[in-house]
Amino acid sequence: MLRTKKLQLVSTIYRNIERIKKEIQNFNFEQSADLEVFRIKFLGSKNCIKELFMELKNVPNDEKKNVGLLLNSLKFLAEEKYNLNKLQSSEHEKNDSQFDLSLPSQKISLGAHHPLSITSNKIISIFNKIGFDTSEGPEIEDDWHNFTALNFPLNHPARDMQDTFFIQKGDKEHVLRTHTSSVQVRVMETSKPPIRTISAGRVYRNEAISARAHCFFHQIEGLYIDKNVSFADLKQTLLFFVKEMFGTDTKIRMRPSYFPFTEPSAEVDMSCTLCNQKGCNVCKHTGWLEIMGCGMVDPNVLEACGIDPKIYSGFAFGMGVERIAQLKYRVGDLRLYSENDVRFLNQFQSGR
Ligand code: DAH
Repeated sequence: MLRTKKLQLVSTIYRNIERIKKEIQNFNFEQSADLEVFRIKFLGSKNCIKELFMELKNVPNDEKKNVGLLLNSLKFLAEEKYNLNKLQSSEHEKNDSQFDLSLPSQKISLGAHHPLSITSNKIISIFNKIGFDTSEGPEIEDDWHNFTALNFPLNHPARDMQDTFFIQKGDKEHVLRTHTSSVQVRVMETSKPPIRTISAGRVYRNEAISARAHCFFHQIEGLYIDKNVSFADLKQTLLFFVKEMFGTDTKIRMRPSYFPFTEPSAEVDMSCTLCNQKGCNVCKHTGWLEIMGCGMVDPNVLEACGIDPKIYSGFAFGMGVERIAQLKYRVGDLRLYSENDVRFLNQFQSGR
């Protein structure tokens, strides 16, 4: 071959090397089939780089080394780009195969109502059926609403530091309410009879925490004020409640008791539904279970709240929600209600 022809060939080879290099660099792998297109074109048995290698024998000796180096680096560039994209596409395939769209979706774990909420809602709904509405009051209470208006004498033991949490609010001393009876004072102060209301909420006592006592628990208070409300009305109301809550065979009995805010006062027992009054550990073999306190609202309380006791009379009752839940679900240890152990709480998923 003539020297001038050889030189023309060399410059064509250089141009082709440049063109192929750009083609390799700009090649876009858009679909998985592009990988094979690339392989055939730049690395296959009749690839375009190989064709240039075959021309190497016609390149003048002084240019051979340089052209050879350029062709080798072109081949290396093609191999590198191919291997990299092959790796990426196999990663994609692996990831894609992790999704089986025909599988059912993952289970959504549902929470459960707290047993005390279930119990409290049930109690409230029973009283709603016979015309009681619901009312609320603050957990941080003043002395008047928690004690004085409820006829607690100044030296009553409940006012003692050992029983009650006293707190300073502003320049006045307050208490964490010791019972929901404070709400009846608020309702009587702000509304006129007839009053039929249920108040539920958390209450606090200065007690050491054990299976049977806690520094906070929950109460439900009931209040009915109208003309001619009698003790018989109280008894029928509570009998209706226990039958709805624990079954129609349930009986109640009342034992005389004392509360500063009711006169007369009584302790209410219901027949033991666990042993059908045959005697068991829960009812301590008496056949009866203590469930609440109640009584006719003391005229002093009515008067303190601005209701004329000569015209109106009323009854009140108060029960512990934990106690009712204990009887309903047989949960003996009070601490379980506030420890947030999901193994305990999950058992109430049915919401009954
Ligand atoms: N407040 C009482 C307590 O905490 C419960 C109670 C008893 C409420 C008798 C009443 C009632 O309304 O009449 O132990």
